[in-house]
This record gives sequence, C-alpha cells and structure tokens, in this order.
Amino acid sequence: MAITNSTEKFCYELGDVYNAEHQIVNALEKLIGQASDPNLKNLLREHLDQTRNQIDRLDQVWTKLGRQPQQVACEGMAGILAEGNKTAAQAQSPALRDGIIGGGADKVEHYEISSYTSLIMGAKLMGQGQIADLLQQNLQEEQWMAQQLEQSAPMLAQKAMTAEGMTPQDVQQTSHTIGS
Ligand SMILES: [Fe+2]
Repeated sequence: MAITNSTEKFCYELGDVYNAEHQIVNALEKLIGQASDPNLKNLLREHLDQTRNQIDRLDQVWTKLGRQPQQVACEGMAGILAEGNKTAAQAQSPALRDGIIGGGADKVEHYEISSYTSLIMGAKLMGQGQIADLLQQNLQEEQWMAQQLEQSAPMLAQKAMTAEGMTPQDVQQTSHTIGS
C-alpha cells in the first residue's frame, strides 16, 4: 500500500492496528491457557471479548471510509508477542510465568494506546468525528486493560516471591523498596 498522502497514511496505520488486533486475538487464546492466576486468566478472557469488539469497530471504520478492510503486517506487535512467548517459555514456575504474561500484555496495550491516540488525532483532523468516536472506544478499553494489568502486577510479583520461599516480611520490605 503506497503512502502518497495523509489519507493513505491514516489507512496504512489503520491496517497496522487492524492486523495487530487479529494477532492479539490469537495470542490471548493461547495466553489464557498458559496463565494460572485466576484473576489474570479472567482479565485476559475479558480482554479477548473486548478485542473481538474492537475488530468489529475497526470494520465499521473501514466501512465509513468506503474501503475494504485491509491488514498491514504489524511487525511491532509480532515482535512484542514473540518476545513475550520467548520469555514465558523460560519461566520455571507458574507464578513467574504469570508475571511475565501480565508484563507482556501491558506492553501490548501500550503499543495499541499509542496507535489509537495517533489515529484519533488523524480522524479528527480529517473531520471524521464518527471514526474518531469508534477509535476512542477502542482506546478507552486499552487504557482500562493497561490499568488493570498494572494494578495486578505487584500481587503477581509477590506470589512469585512467596513461592520462592521469601517470608511475608521479606516481600513487604521488597515492595517498600520498589515503591519508595
Ligand atoms: Fe486492542
């Protein structure tokens, strides 16, 4: 897809995030099976539903643009997911794997937050208010998911440390050190 003007740039970047969302659906289906913490599992399940809805919204965006949906291979998302898979495969305990999955999922969210923020700006500048609204809904779900993952990260880290035999006091002191 040649990028010859601002509309083509917008469509190229839309195709990138459209492809990224499809990659994420496949990844989440596998990660749900690999996660062991019930809260993390539920969070990933909820975001799988959200991601399918996000793809539907992107289909609506393509329709409003009067174009067929087009995927542009998203190397950035492929890289984040490959890195997460590689690291999770090295984990020697379920608790460590959960922490790696949660951290990797947060990186995914931040890639998407950046992509949607840029697309929303582009849509507004083109006077495409309805498209901006659809993209805004996706952005809000990514921000919600990032927030949930970041809130659950200390609990996952503490579970891993406890499983390693650290006393609650050791864990508490470590948390204070990290938080200070
Ligand atoms: Fe998404």
